[in-house]
Amino acid sequence: MENKIQTLSCRKFLFFFIIQVVAAFFFFSVSFHGKRRNIAIEPTDTVTSKPEEPVKIILLWTWPFDFTFPLNQCPREFDGTGCFFTLNRSLYSEAAAVVLHSRNVCSDRNQLPQAPRPPKQYWIWFTLESPSHNPNTGFMEKLINLTMSYRADSDIFTPYGWLERHDGKENFSMPVKTKLVAWAVSNWNPSARRIKYYEELKKHLAIDMFGAMHSPLPRTQHIEILSRYKFYLTFENSIHEDYITEKLWHNALTSWAVPVVMGPPRDNYERYIPPESFIHVDDFPTAKELADYLHALDKDDNKYMQYFNWRKILKPIAPEGWDVHYCKVCKALKEAPSYRTFPSITKWFK
Ligand SMILES: *[C@@H]1O[C@H](CO)[C@@H](O)[C@H](O)[C@H]1NC(C)=O
Ligand SMILES: *[C@@H]1O[C@H](CO)[C@@H](O)[C@H](O)[C@H]1NC(C)=O
Ligand SMILES: *[C@@H]1O[C@H](CO)[C@@H](O)[C@H](O)[C@H]1NC(C)=O
Repeated sequence: MENKIQTLSCRKFLFFFIIQVVAAFFFFSVSFHGKRRNIAIEPTDTVTSKPEEPVKIILLWTWPFDFTFPLNQCPREFDGTGCFFTLNRSLYSEAAAVVLHSRNVCSDRNQLPQAPRPPKQYWIWFTLESPSHNPNTGFMEKLINLTMSYRADSDIFTPYGWLERHDGKENFSMPVKTKLVAWAVSNWNPSARRIKYYEELKKHLAIDMFGAMHSPLPRTQHIEILSRYKFYLTFENSIHEDYITEKLWHNALTSWAVPVVMGPPRDNYERYIPPESFIHVDDFPTAKELADYLHALDKDDNKYMQYFNWRKILKPIAPEGWDVHYCKVCKALKEAPSYRTFPSITKWFK
């Protein structure tokens, strides 16, 4: 897919990507009701399999950070048949795959399985954090078979969000906008580019701040509060290819606030969302010029509304929870080559 990507122009690629997403979600459509994701948990026959094929045991070496979620309840669309997810390390020697959540094992080699690796077992390296927040990957060299991350070139691609075609019956109803610009930030590092940019931007534009050191933004009221704003500052904590997080998918798009993004270059965003759905800080030579543009849009409803045209066809999906990522492992294992090694996480993930 990577070669194809490089030979296609942005626009063609966006089209290609949307077609892919639409096609994928025709089959993988998960029920979403309102704003909160609500996976339809059906009793699945995950443990049963064709008699001749042994069940593939997928061992989660740890929970990701300390988040727990129900295992073996993947929606049917994920094709979980023939797989059994577990955290029981006694099953290590029988496991078809071990999923290593990077940040839970990164302190040293002792955090990884110590017993000899059974032949044919895959070790899957999983992260949703950016390279800037994934220290110490060096000891993983030549140990990993498959990668799983938000990077589009991962073996198992687990993005923070995506667009899905809606059935057209959806109400195109914009929340009432009474405020201009919001930003929620918890990690305040004064030397970070995004903080410096904010300091400059706020000289020309009133920005309502939420997060640890500012107004509270309770999780349950995220969308309600942020949807009053015309714009949301989607400033990523670090800048890396494809590192486009819930700040975009959840905070901005789900609440119908136009994202003002700071992250990878514009063409990287355009692989995920339409060019005319967002504003990139790099579109402007200075923060003042960005502020002027936002003020102008604030006074021109027709122009502002053009940032929503794409919603006539597409809607953003921002899954909360980890199961939607882990559920992809079963199908990926069935399709994985019988032998694969990943030479260097460190060289790839930067
Ligand atoms: C883990 O698996 C072993 C071997 O199948 C089993 O004896 C043990 O009861 C399991 N432990 C838990 C907590 O399920
Ligand atoms: C759309 O909005 C109208 C008017 O508020 C309402 O009657 C209708 O049920 C809504 N349709 C959907 C699909 O939500
Ligand atoms: C996984 O990678 C290890 C280390 O390179 C290798 O020894 C093993 O054969 C690989 N397993 C599979 C199933 O590819």
